[in-house]
Amino acid sequence: MSENKFYNIITYGCQMNEHDSERLAGMLEEMGYQQTEELGSADIILLNTCIIRENAELKVFGKLGELKRYKRENPDLIIGIGGCMMQQDEPVDEVYKKYRHVDLIFGTHNIHHLPNLIKKIEETRDRVVEVWDEEEGLIPDLPSQRESEHSAWISIIQGCDNFCTYCIVPYVRGRERSRSVKSIVEEAVRLAEDGVKEITLLGQNVNSYGNDLEKEITFPKLLEELNKVEELKRIRFMTSHPRDLSDDLLAKIKNLDKVANHIHLPVQSGSNKVLKEMNRGYTREYYIDRVKKIQQEIPGAAVSTDFIVGFPGESEEDFEKTIELVKELKFDMAYTFIYSPRSGTPAARRDDQIAEAVKKGRLNRLMELQNKISYDQNQKLIGSIQKILVTGPSNNDPEVFEGRTSTNKICFIDKREDLVGEVVKVKIEDAKSWTLEGTVIE
Ligand code: 5AD
Ligand code: SF4
Repeated sequence: MSENKFYNIITYGCQMNEHDSERLAGMLEEMGYQQTEELGSADIILLNTCIIRENAELKVFGKLGELKRYKRENPDLIIGIGGCMMQQDEPVDEVYKKYRHVDLIFGTHNIHHLPNLIKKIEETRDRVVEVWDEEEGLIPDLPSQRESEHSAWISIIQGCDNFCTYCIVPYVRGRERSRSVKSIVEEAVRLAEDGVKEITLLGQNVNSYGNDLEKEITFPKLLEELNKVEELKRIRFMTSHPRDLSDDLLAKIKNLDKVANHIHLPVQSGSNKVLKEMNRGYTREYYIDRVKKIQQEIPGAAVSTDFIVGFPGESEEDFEKTIELVKELKFDMAYTFIYSPRSGTPAARRDDQIAEAVKKGRLNRLMELQNKISYDQNQKLIGSIQKILVTGPSNNDPEVFEGRTSTNKICFIDKREDLVGEVVKVKIEDAKSWTLEGTVIE
């Protein structure tokens, strides 16, 4: 390429999307493009979309509208949109018909075609749409542009077979497909050689890793293999489906020194009636039993969760069950969502949807309670010694450095360039709902 060319990727949604964006960035860099923060100087702008809740979709359309002026200023600009939203017919139609300034539409299964699609547009200036229904296996060896020097994501299983009745993911991400152990370990070794100290294994349900592979392999066994990668200091993973959380996995978390003491275990609701209607495959009692087992087997381990409030038919009594569960289990952290009907899912077709005001009221009650519990949980850590992996300056203040505990809590320390990428012992001095503060003691 004769001159400098720039790209910008705007990402919505979960870690899976963040990771896909890193791969998109990696491919663009291989093509000679450089990243820019300024949309005005970009030659390519990509939107990596999310569809899990309605507001994610609304944001994307808003952004697309905003991008029109950049195209007006620079007609050579290539605007592309990919990700989960583009696996659905309606949004694709809408983008194609109403947003004429979009040059490229691509699905979640086609990201490795990006270089060819871009070349095609550069040569022909035609609009290109490429969305497949069927996944083509995994695409493990894409280059990836890592956001952080010492932490990286590794996708180990794509798709989901669970069909929770509210969820769009199985429709847009396809069936479960596990990557081979060999290619995962190879990637981990490569990353470690490149200076990565912490990996996070990604999947909608990491506990079903290996079920679709011929070779006898399970998620706990995969952890065992990864624990052997020398330069790695920490291994995280998400998300765990409560139904598939085995005792074997708990034993591995306890015994493998690099596996972090944190489990993200979405419960969604505390009511058995709602759990059944969500098709979650477990009861409240089973879930409570699992969390108690974690607390017993791995003292000090953190459990975080997700909740959906206002699922169709959720009564005040059902919601109270959720509140009681939160009080009983005292999660370290919880992500709380208002139920959002997703077209094509069974729950969206129900005629007993909950009024918006009721949903918001419940969300606020739940958030207030959880914030207080997170605060109390963190206060208990004051005076304790935690090991943190120092990642560098905090976003808000470059004079303050931060790292995460094994339990995934952010901990601030004084500025120490020499500790970046190291695991250090810290004495916790102060705590808030979301963050800790400490002094390095070693
Ligand atoms: N409405 C609200 N929240 C949802 N989630 C998934 N689908 C929906 C929906 N339709 C939440 C779940 C899941 C998290 C990633 O997003 O809590 O665990
Ligand atoms: Fe969606 Fe349920 Fe699969 Fe999670 S387990 S991605 S909530 S269908």
